[in-house]
Amino acid sequence: MKALILVGGFGTRLRPLTLSFPKPLVDFANKPMILHQIEALKEVGVTEVVLAINYRPEVMINFLKDFEDKLGITITCSQETEPLGTAGPLALARDKLADGSGEPFFVLNSDVISEYPFAELIKFHKGHDGEATIMVTKVDEPSKYGVVVMEEATGRVERFVEKPKIFVGNKINAGIYLLNPSVLDRIELRPTSIEKEVFPQIAADQKLYAMVLPGFWMDVGQPRDYITGLRLYLDSLRKKSAGRLATGAHVVGNVLVHESAKIGEGCLIGPDVAIGPGCVVEDGVRLSRCTVMRGVRIKKHACISNSIIGWHSTVGQWARIENMTILGEDVHVCDEVYSNGGVVLPHKEIKSSILKPEIVM
Ligand code: GDD
Ligand code: MG
Repeated sequence: MKALILVGGFGTRLRPLTLSFPKPLVDFANKPMILHQIEALKEVGVTEVVLAINYRPEVMINFLKDFEDKLGITITCSQETEPLGTAGPLALARDKLADGSGEPFFVLNSDVISEYPFAELIKFHKGHDGEATIMVTKVDEPSKYGVVVMEEATGRVERFVEKPKIFVGNKINAGIYLLNPSVLDRIELRPTSIEKEVFPQIAADQKLYAMVLPGFWMDVGQPRDYITGLRLYLDSLRKKSAGRLATGAHVVGNVLVHESAKIGEGCLIGPDVAIGPGCVVEDGVRLSRCTVMRGVRIKKHACISNSIIGWHSTVGQWARIENMTILGEDVHVCDEVYSNGGVVLPHKEIKSSILKPEIVM
């Protein structure tokens, strides 16, 4: 089977992290987001993943070349010369997706995290006579998503409304689809939206089905949701393979520590923390609800909560970082500095406290 991952877009809502890497390569739970997806696709027998990209493809391809061999999966690029939206890229990659086998193919948004229940999706899709299956999940705030109204018993979608202004329902499009090749006949090669133009049309023909996604789900394309997503991911890891989580007197709740990271004496870490490869956490540090990416150093007695620390940054002694502070790549926070929601661009040195949420250029 094949899969297409919608990788395009500038990831503006995840700046400053996306100033250094395209969104799919931003680490989530110690691994680039897209690797979580590619590994799960491989597990259900996908042999080729097509990345639909509209800018800086070389960064993605160079990075993923290593994983092609490690995972034994073919990764190719379909590059747009102008952004084609969420449907146009399928038309562009038509020849790769419709290989004559008649097999359905996966399409994924690149910023969604879940247990990727692809095997269940294949089973459900084969059990109905529609052309397309989308996975849906319930959320409290449906207006920022695509909302699906479906017949409960069969899963047949009656309506699909992208980002509705008035309440339509609370089941939303999870950005994970299985489509028959015939769907490609409905898509023209131009900038076009699968949510606004293609799904409503398939629904009107009564050929669109939805399956409620088992387990957790989160679009981690915004900092607050990214932190929530990490909590849900670690909860799920606790249930499925608790052995991968850190243990010890210094650990509270669910904590993921890369094997190459070093943790000092007298730290208190957790809940909901991910510490990436090569990180050094010195003595007496307090971390909760945060992500510390590859190569970061956190000096003695620093305290970090509800924040993301970008690659190769350092946080000084007694510094206090909180309230959705996002440090870009290679940021240096001096000793005893306080950050309340600072969003700091890459390669900056922070010498004085950031007292209220603001962007530091
Ligand atoms: N190749 C390519 N070209 N990809 C694109 C383009 C483009 O022009 N525009 C967006 N994408 C990719 C994004 O990188 C992302 O992976 C996916 O398409 C969806 O775009 P987002 O910008 O993340 O959309 P959203 O989060 O507002 O809404 C979408 O996701 C929700 C679930 O998270 C929609 O699919 C909603 O219906 C859905 O509920
Ligand atoms: Mg999104």
